[in-house]
Amino acid sequence: MASDATTMEKIVALGKRRGFIFPSSEIYGGLNGFWDYGPLGVELKRNIKDAWWHDMVTCPPLGPDGQEIQIVGVDCSLIMNPKVWQASGHLGEGFADPMVDCKSCKGRFRADKVWLVAFLPEGSGQAPALVMGVEADGEQEAADAVQLSKSKTKKLPAGAQKVAASLDRGRADGWPPVCPSCGAAELTSPRAFNLMFKTYVGALEESSSVAYLRPETAQGIFVNFKNIVDTQRVRVPFGIAQMGKAFRNEINPRNYTFRSREFEQMELEFFCHPTTSRTWYEFWRDVRLQWYTDLWIKSENLRPREQGEEERAHYSVGTTDVEYLFPFSDEPQELEGVAHRADYDLGAHETSSGKELTYYDDETKERYLPHVIEPSAGVDRFALAVLCEAYHEQEIVGAKGKAETRVFMRFHPRLAPIKAAVFPLVKKDGMPETARAICNDIRKALPAFYDEKGAIGRRYARQDEAGTPFCFTVDGQTADDGTVTVRWRDTLEQERIDQSRCLEYLRDKLAVGGMT
Ligand code: GAP
Repeated sequence: MASDATTMEKIVALGKRRGFIFPSSEIYGGLNGFWDYGPLGVELKRNIKDAWWHDMVTCPPLGPDGQEIQIVGVDCSLIMNPKVWQASGHLGEGFADPMVDCKSCKGRFRADKVWLVAFLPEGSGQAPALVMGVEADGEQEAADAVQLSKSKTKKLPAGAQKVAASLDRGRADGWPPVCPSCGAAELTSPRAFNLMFKTYVGALEESSSVAYLRPETAQGIFVNFKNIVDTQRVRVPFGIAQMGKAFRNEINPRNYTFRSREFEQMELEFFCHPTTSRTWYEFWRDVRLQWYTDLWIKSENLRPREQGEEERAHYSVGTTDVEYLFPFSDEPQELEGVAHRADYDLGAHETSSGKELTYYDDETKERYLPHVIEPSAGVDRFALAVLCEAYHEQEIVGAKGKAETRVFMRFHPRLAPIKAAVFPLVKKDGMPETARAICNDIRKALPAFYDEKGAIGRRYARQDEAGTPFCFTVDGQTADDGTVTVRWRDTLEQERIDQSRCLEYLRDKLAVGGMT
């Protein structure tokens, strides 16, 4: 499927116009890779996090054999002892992107996004060209740079060392890699660029006080494994969940919030016996894929993709990415990774800290290091997928009989920032008072919005863009028979219900997915 830049531009514009997402510190020109969420965005994100916590922690799915699963939560500090990152491998090459600079235009690119482009005619003995691609659309850009069809491009193997070897081989053979931005063959050799943000703890800025902002929430869970086993009545298999901020000094933050430098994760580390880890890996992969479809991400835009061995993170023995086809890309992109981390982390922290992290099963009398299956999702990435998926345009005949385009955000009811809006048709005859009373009644249970400003059509349009599923309108008939109209965002259907039933009606209609 082709990428759709126009749709993406419209979504970004709506994000700003309606207060979903703003560039961070915008009045100072922003800061690349950082974003702020406005009033609607913050509710959307909160609903995503609430849905995840509810479905994974408060009310987790039944296991592969129909057994109950126990998941507990933690909320760990963002800055941890730097030894954590030494042990986890994040301070080494494992968490570094290979980076090249263009000496000519000063552009900086990720070297693992290099694309090999074969010069025509094939087999002519002519050397291929290496073109540095930029993420997502690298293949197309690489092909464009030498004006060849995309089928002549091939992605080079991921991994800093393999990329460096390919580039060096190319240079030695007399076909140096070219910059995708300016075309100059003046790219430096790849250098490892660690993605962690450094800071100092305490008053002195010296090497002994160096600390890092966490690049994933997972390590807080691993280093608390013993605390949880010792203080909670948990038995393997069980999970520990955490959601919160993570920070990565990405080389190329891009595609709106997709790759940011500050973002939120929702992570679950599921500890199991090594002999059952494959079953749990497949279980969590399927559960997580289903979670997205349940929240109205269309299955044709979603796919699970098993990573090749060379792509996997340093801790993983198997990873399936749940990918979504964002409008900015030809290829589906990662929403979430479900990784089989085996005993990498507990083993590494045991060795590094000197503290025993094995688990003793008092029924089987066995002591072992549990294996870990980790579904790790990005809140912001999912929020972006939800915005893309929800965006709808519909040709309608407007109030004045003219054709117009209605834009509405078709959010799943659980995720919609506002669940209902209440309007008086006009600002007189007691209608505002009745509408306010209805709105205040709904607000006790669900987020609702009162609006009396402007023509009724414009008020509906504003709520359509906010993705509000239902609008109640108090009109002239309300005083006569106590009914109000209710209009449904997705179908534009209207019906009359008794004004005393608004909250009950909403509860009933919004119960999709067990929201209420
Ligand atoms: N603990 C495993 C881990 O962190 P990851 O694949 O690096 O794995 C997990 O990250 C998820 O976090 C990704 O699938 C994505 O949703 C989100 N994520 C990672 N880097 C991100 C970034 N720079 N901006 C936004 N979200 C990001």
